[in-house]
Amino acid sequence: MNPAILPPVDSNLATAWTLPARWYTDPAFLPIEKERIFYRTWQWVGSTSLVQRVGDFFTYDLYGEPLVITRTHDGSLRAFHNVCLHRAGPVATGKGNRKSLQCRYHGWLYDLNGKLLNAPEFEGVENWSPDAYCLRNVRVAEWGPFVFVNLEPSAPALLDVLGNIPAEVQRAGFDIDQMQSIERRDYYVDANWKVYIDNYLEGYHIPIAHPWTLSRDRLRPVSRRHLPLLFVPVRPHSPDPR
Ligand code: FES
Repeated sequence: MNPAILPPVDSNLATAWTLPARWYTDPAFLPIEKERIFYRTWQWVGSTSLVQRVGDFFTYDLYGEPLVITRTHDGSLRAFHNVCLHRAGPVATGKGNRKSLQCRYHGWLYDLNGKLLNAPEFEGVENWSPDAYCLRNVRVAEWGPFVFVNLEPSAPALLDVLGNIPAEVQRAGFDIDQMQSIERRDYYVDANWKVYIDNYLEGYHIPIAHPWTLSRDRLRPVSRRHLPLLFVPVRPHSPDPR
């Protein structure tokens, strides 16, 4: 099967099957997934705690696309391809706070809005304008403590994709704008990404794997236009007797 031609999804659960095994192992699928999913949709890239002050920045590798996110002087977030317009060196590494972004290859200097401020030794170069060499923009948006980017200029806005999730979060009693990132833990799962997502999205395992924390009897899967949602109430706290 040509992986570029994917069969339609069977949305009837009674007759639906899991994805073919080859989709999890064939390297030909990842470029297609990048192009059709990860480079066209809003992707979480970090916490707003990384970019609270003017000049704060952090870098992120979005499935092979190097990005840099900055907090500018007017308080807004900007995101760029972390690729210098000269010979494609990175203009930032890691995270931190800087007045400007400077490529470490030949020293081109950009402001926090991506505008080229200085190109050493380019004085006198004809038919060349620094205005044509701004860092390439990427769409960026915040929701509560979360920063998202989207590489697709024509994709719907983040809030359109979230739909009524913000209202539901508020109704559940959470003030998303007051939430802060306290700690980050990374878990590396040695598997195709879809294995993890498949398992995360099914509630079949909840009575066995999470009997003391999650309540399956009130589990409610909901399919939205852009997102699948799973409502799983947390049980009142009780110690795990196992
Ligand atoms: S590659 Fe960035 S200044 Fe040359």
